[in-house]
Amino acid sequence: MVSRSDFPEDFVWGASTASYQIEGGYQEGGRGLSIWDAFSAEPGRVKNGDTGNVACDHYHRYAEDVALMKAANFRAYRFSVSWSRVLAEGRGTPNEAGLDFYDRLTDELLKNGVEPWLCLYHWDLPLALHKAGLGWTNREIVPLFADYAGVLAKRLGDRIRTWATFNEPNMFTMLGYGAGVHAPGIRDREAWLDAVHHVNLSHGAAIRRLRADLPSGAKLGTVPNLQPALPATDTDEDREAARKMDAAMNRATADPVLLGKYDPITRDWMGARIRPSDEEAIYAPLDWLGLNHYSPTYASARANAFGFRNMDPPEGAEKTLMGWHVAPSAFRDILIETSQRYRLPIYVTENGMADSVEPDAKGVVNDAGRVSYLDRYLGAVVEARAAGADVRGYLVWSMLDNFEWAMGYGPRFGIVHVDYATLKRTPKASYRYLAGLAGAPVSA
Ligand code: FCB
Repeated sequence: MVSRSDFPEDFVWGASTASYQIEGGYQEGGRGLSIWDAFSAEPGRVKNGDTGNVACDHYHRYAEDVALMKAANFRAYRFSVSWSRVLAEGRGTPNEAGLDFYDRLTDELLKNGVEPWLCLYHWDLPLALHKAGLGWTNREIVPLFADYAGVLAKRLGDRIRTWATFNEPNMFTMLGYGAGVHAPGIRDREAWLDAVHHVNLSHGAAIRRLRADLPSGAKLGTVPNLQPALPATDTDEDREAARKMDAAMNRATADPVLLGKYDPITRDWMGARIRPSDEEAIYAPLDWLGLNHYSPTYASARANAFGFRNMDPPEGAEKTLMGWHVAPSAFRDILIETSQRYRLPIYVTENGMADSVEPDAKGVVNDAGRVSYLDRYLGAVVEARAAGADVRGYLVWSMLDNFEWAMGYGPRFGIVHVDYATLKRTPKASYRYLAGLAGAPVSA
């Protein structure tokens, strides 16, 4: 087992969540709809017809959730803002009631000694923008995203120091526009490439706006999900497919944003989308890199429109409820590689696993599988640090069980159990495990 002394004193412990996955209150305080409201209302899109309408009701219960963070001695909490809560139509006049919610949340966190880490976009695009044809496939979204960043900077910049633009730009562009399994349900290679380029440009524009509108000393970053892309079989064809998967899933958003240059494979795919000086517009120096990671991925050359196909982990591999391969050594490797390639301080902003463990007869949630997973993955962090990777913090996914996108409420990722009927919160064994590492009394 890892122990607190395996990490430096100032290592940041914390948890992450996302607006649509926990907030609920979907029609309250003047909130406009997002593409996830529309997508989850469409029959057959989300397992069991689940929606985020109520979710964990964090919109009303945030103080209780913050109290749990404080009791765990967490120093940081990464949350995302619902764009359509603060700009109902994605642009125009800010919605004061929506901004008030993030004000209250920020103040509650600060009062309890937890740093708010704000992520601008965790996948809930305002539906009005999508309907007006101004979603990620349209380049005109770039200044709108920067304006949205400016609204938040002006309102919260006096209290929030740590900001991120996009959560997993690589994942939502592929899942939402390429594979069509997430909102807005578009399945089109060209739309995917459009979305990737416009998200990259939006990142650059938002960082410039934040630098201009935030006090100096603000810490700006982005949060890709980086996962080794491995060949499904030991053949030249699958190795080539893995190179394409690596370009599509790891490089296409990270390289231009962090190095100022598309990698050769993605550049070739992008073609004339990349206009002169676009790469300069995308690149802006950052202060930190959030790294989300769950498992390695496997590519097969059994071609589809993308030139690679996602495969299951090898026979006999240990897998979570999501079917994701438990492979802490892949985590160690990606931490080391990422640190060497991008040369920024890294904070793990998501890592964790899904199970379906419920409270026992005494009300105890003993998620031993998660404790084991976290312990092994934190062991990988210790190894990566020993090998020189500049990893400075670990924010678990997730603080609470929540709406797991197209999978609905089945997979539970929280260190705190949520009873979706009563909305009761019950800290799990994994919560006590992390609280112990964070320096809280172990009985927390
Ligand atoms: C990540 C997402 C997060 C959550 C976890 C399990 O890709 O950023 O919202 O769904 O996976």
